[in-house]
Amino acid sequence: MERLREITEPLLVWYDENRRILPWREEPTPYHVWVSEIMLQQTRVEAVKPYYKRFMEAFPDIETLANAPEQQLLKMWEGLGYYSRVRNLQKAAIQIMGEYGGQMPAEYEQLLKLKGIGSYTAGAISSIAFKKPYPAVDGNVLRVLSRIRMDEESISEERVKKRVFGELLELIPRERPGDFNQALMDLGAGVCVPNGAPHCEECPLKHICLGFQNGSQSEYPKKALKKARTIEEKTILIIQDENRAALKKRPDKGLLAGLYEFPSMEGYHTAQDVVKYLEENGLKTLRIQQLADSKHIFSHREWHMIGYQIRVDELSPKGDGEFTKDFIYLEPERTQEEYPIPSAFAAYAPYLNIKLTSEKYKE
Ligand code: ADE
Repeated sequence: MERLREITEPLLVWYDENRRILPWREEPTPYHVWVSEIMLQQTRVEAVKPYYKRFMEAFPDIETLANAPEQQLLKMWEGLGYYSRVRNLQKAAIQIMGEYGGQMPAEYEQLLKLKGIGSYTAGAISSIAFKKPYPAVDGNVLRVLSRIRMDEESISEERVKKRVFGELLELIPRERPGDFNQALMDLGAGVCVPNGAPHCEECPLKHICLGFQNGSQSEYPKKALKKARTIEEKTILIIQDENRAALKKRPDKGLLAGLYEFPSMEGYHTAQDVVKYLEENGLKTLRIQQLADSKHIFSHREWHMIGYQIRVDELSPKGDGEFTKDFIYLEPERTQEEYPIPSAFAAYAPYLNIKLTSEKYKE
């Protein structure tokens, strides 16, 4: 604990020189901080920037967010992943409209009651927007502090996170809580980095850091072993007639809920199998061509995909199979403009001549 008390001053001096200029830091209103912090969970700063800008243009305040149509909301999030984040954002906006007259509540305990806001986000909003002395303990912060103290406890445990929260609560500088939290985040993101060797020579805390002094910084933080991901094999079908392509809405619950996807079959299938399957569903194949394989990694599963591009004579299947009930048939431009498609399918979108948002932002 004594070691931790020593970090505040050099950390803030370093932050004044090295802080990153970020769009949400320019005018840190509660709404700006909230939206940016939700986007930044699980997503890198550079990837978030264009999404943040576009989101603020579309939903400049809590009221607009509360009233947004779900499909537009998901489209704005297309490519960011973890889509329950944006659904919760909207649920919380509705709560704020109903319970707080459209103003973000200023009390930490009230923030915690909003959908999707846990102790990290409540701490970030309280400290950055409301200048209240609450810590915001994320993976960056846990890593930095674990290395400084050569902490043997696993940061995967909720108990450890709570302990660190309590320790920081005692020492967070009352006059600059938001800067203190963000300094730890910036240090974790740029200097005390997670993978590969940390840049200890540049670190303002190296004279305090036990890990550095022992040359064992890379052995920390200790983490629980991750469970292996489940692997799912899929065959993706890009099915088009002269004008339109087939798309399907995913179920309202579970992985990628409510987003749109290309038709697919479980497992790997040959072109012959695919033609037969389509025929059973009332679709006549004119041409079929195999596409590149691709892989998408989620937190708990991996999709290993093969794909086919298929030209059919007409996308108006008959009968009562899933092609009649569950699919929609759209011109590719409409798909690109209106329908949110997760980046798991990014490898196959170009075959419709469309670009998903995540790919557009790579240019
Ligand atoms: N990562 C998450 N929130 C952040 C913030 N406010 N500043 C820098 N990096 C962050």
